[in-house]
Amino acid sequence: GLNVSTLLRSTGKVTLDPGFMNTASCESKITYIDGDAGILRYRGYPIEQLAAGSSFLEVAYLLLKGELPSAAEFEAFESRVNRHTFVHEDFRTFMGTFPRNGHPMAVLASAINALATFYPESLDPHDDDTVELATVLLLAKTRTITSYLHRRAAGEPLLYPDYSRGYVDDFLRMTFAVPYMAYESDPVVVKALDTLLILHADHEQNCSTSTVRMVGSSNANLYASVAAGVNALSGPSHGGANEAVLAMLTEIQAGGGDATEFMRRVKDKEDGVRLMGFGHRVYKNYDPRAAIVKDSAHEVLEALGVEDEMLDIAMKLEEIALNDDYFIERKLYPNVDFYTGLIYKAMGFSPQMFTPLFALGRMPGWIAQWREMMKDPAMKIGRPRQIYTGYTERDYVPVAQR
Ligand code: ACO
Repeated sequence: GLNVSTLLRSTGKVTLDPGFMNTASCESKITYIDGDAGILRYRGYPIEQLAAGSSFLEVAYLLLKGELPSAAEFEAFESRVNRHTFVHEDFRTFMGTFPRNGHPMAVLASAINALATFYPESLDPHDDDTVELATVLLLAKTRTITSYLHRRAAGEPLLYPDYSRGYVDDFLRMTFAVPYMAYESDPVVVKALDTLLILHADHEQNCSTSTVRMVGSSNANLYASVAAGVNALSGPSHGGANEAVLAMLTEIQAGGGDATEFMRRVKDKEDGVRLMGFGHRVYKNYDPRAAIVKDSAHEVLEALGVEDEMLDIAMKLEEIALNDDYFIERKLYPNVDFYTGLIYKAMGFSPQMFTPLFALGRMPGWIAQWREMMKDPAMKIGRPRQIYTGYTERDYVPVAQR
């Protein structure tokens, strides 16, 4: 393909593109987005088909290996993930030392980074078996860690995994079960959470994925790279938006539920207030994930018998936005984060857990992208250029003369 970078370098010129609005950082075969048409495909498969028919672990396999698994391949993959779901007892002690009310995204990033110290045999980024081991460890242990993030906030013990249950079913049990008591998860909830994890599994070169690639481009290990991705995800302009949406809906509800007044403040850019869960760098049409999540929100709340006024407020905000010139002109539509929080809330998660759930879902995508980069003959250390705008040259003046 055309390599603009080489062309410009030969002329001594650089491009300036803040936020990488028009600059591709890599070639990739994993995820395709057409932002104008509202299309998302993993390895060529439409997101709608995967959400309806596949499972999160199967999608993880697809993203990582490029093809859907046969029944035997899937069984081997699932059982390998299952074998690694326990965390070392010292690891639990380590996680227990963080303040209980500290934000779980900070604990998650630290915990994932710390996996490198517990599994030093899985660090070589260029050995296939080692990378496969680190991949399986991350998929398995992030689930256990995420369930523990919920429990430790409540002062409850970590529950051990149960291999006889599926990935999502057992995650719900580890998160919500009373110790030593039987736990039945609602099939509607299992399916909804599985679907949400699928919808979050990859989204090409977003902020956190680009971060994972950037850190990995220095040949840093997989844990170090993914932990950096967790930190990038935590910001409210990215994955942190799901928590921010709920804070926004809570504020509107507490103020009497006036969606129109809130939208006036957004349009007037009063105090920089934005409609959280709206807008996207790439989608200039309805985010296809948001459409699926919206349907799921109705299903889950109905199945659980939850009536939440915030869902009505959210729908009112969307209705206003879709008919308002401010949003139409700027092509602002709901993104994946707009309705997810309402589902997580109905399931029993606290708002602080929303972004860790996003991270759990994004894990296969981060790893697949990192692995693709490591195998790419064109891989280079990420090192952007700059346009220097500071002083040219000046002489140092000793402090007594300043
Ligand atoms: N509410 C109100 N106005 C908005 C919003 C919003 N949510 N998003 C963008 N705009 C406006 C901007 O003010 C700007 O208007 P202007 O031309 O009058 O200055 C215009 O739309 C373009 O916005 P940018 O910030 O330049 O768009 P960018 O592509 O840089 O940002 C982003 C994309 C960060 C997602 C933005 O839309 C936003 O802040 N949304 C709210 C946070 C959010 O939901 N993030 C989750 C993104 S999806 C994800 O990570 C899973």
